[in-house]
Amino acid sequence: MSDPSPSFKEMWSTLQSLVNHRLSESLDLSPDCPSILREAMSYSLSAGGKRLRPILVLLSCEACGGEMEAALPAACAIEMVHTYSLIHDDLPAMDDDDLRRGIPTSHIKFGEANAILAGDALLTRAFEILASQIKVKSCAAECCVDLANAAGAVGMVGGQVADLESEHREHSTLEELEAIHRRKTGRLICSALTMGARIGGADAVILERLERYGTCIGLAFQITDDLLDLTGDKEKMGKGVRKDAEHGKLTYPSLIGVDESRRRAQNLIDEACLSIAPLGSHGQRLEELAHFILERDH
Ligand code: IPE
Ligand code: IPE
Ligand code: MG
Ligand code: MG
Ligand code: MG
Repeated sequence: MSDPSPSFKEMWSTLQSLVNHRLSESLDLSPDCPSILREAMSYSLSAGGKRLRPILVLLSCEACGGEMEAALPAACAIEMVHTYSLIHDDLPAMDDDDLRRGIPTSHIKFGEANAILAGDALLTRAFEILASQIKVKSCAAECCVDLANAAGAVGMVGGQVADLESEHREHSTLEELEAIHRRKTGRLICSALTMGARIGGADAVILERLERYGTCIGLAFQITDDLLDLTGDKEKMGKGVRKDAEHGKLTYPSLIGVDESRRRAQNLIDEACLSIAPLGSHGQRLEELAHFILERDH
């Protein structure tokens, strides 16, 4: 696919601004929050970032016929959880990175203890926002379950543990690799789709289709992240590159090579688009977005 259309880019930047505005409001905390903590939370959250996950929440809600406004709390919550995961992922005990979103990582700027605590505070604030700001309370509860499940022991945190365990392992299988990527990145992305769909009032069939779409693009997203670590540009990415091999990480290109990795990512994107075919023209934005996952350079 060629570059995304101007209208897609325009849509992306409009939704980014909407999310950014709401995110900054959501850090308007009482004076009981120590100023260093507020500063560290806001430093990582406002540093930029593509806002893929919140935009997926909004588009999923819209594709199901809901108002985007109603999905903004879930959009903010997922970006907070994602940002917390990045702060912790960069810590010396994990990937030990010093650049993120184009600026020094949280622990470089604020010290390790404050970085850990800023991550903790973003994670907990996310659930406060979900529980208190989603209007329909049964839906708020379902979204809390989706996000907790995706972010926790059987999702992102579990995947991160498996990712670290796999470092420098001599023999790994494709099944093990897929299980890491599906949990550490895929599950959270998938929860963006299910939360958006719930808020948009989707029925069980459409919810299942969007979940399938989310699973496919989630895995494709991490395959592309692995590829970009090898081929990407540090300036564009705003984070260190060529780090995975140095850490002995189990990645798609390290296990099956660059070409086969690209082929698998392409197949996943095709499958994602097929899954949302029943949405017809309502799924057009999500279809365009799926292609962006593959073509992105940051
Ligand atoms: C990076 O996520 C970490 C992964 C899960 C691969 P993004 O590439 O979405 O990072 P930002 O949010 O744009 O900084
Ligand atoms: C990150 O995977 C997954 C997370 C849960 C944050 P990576 O470790 O590959 O992400 P980057 O490359 O540091 O952004
Ligand atoms: Mg990592
Ligand atoms: Mg990392
Ligand atoms: Mg990476």
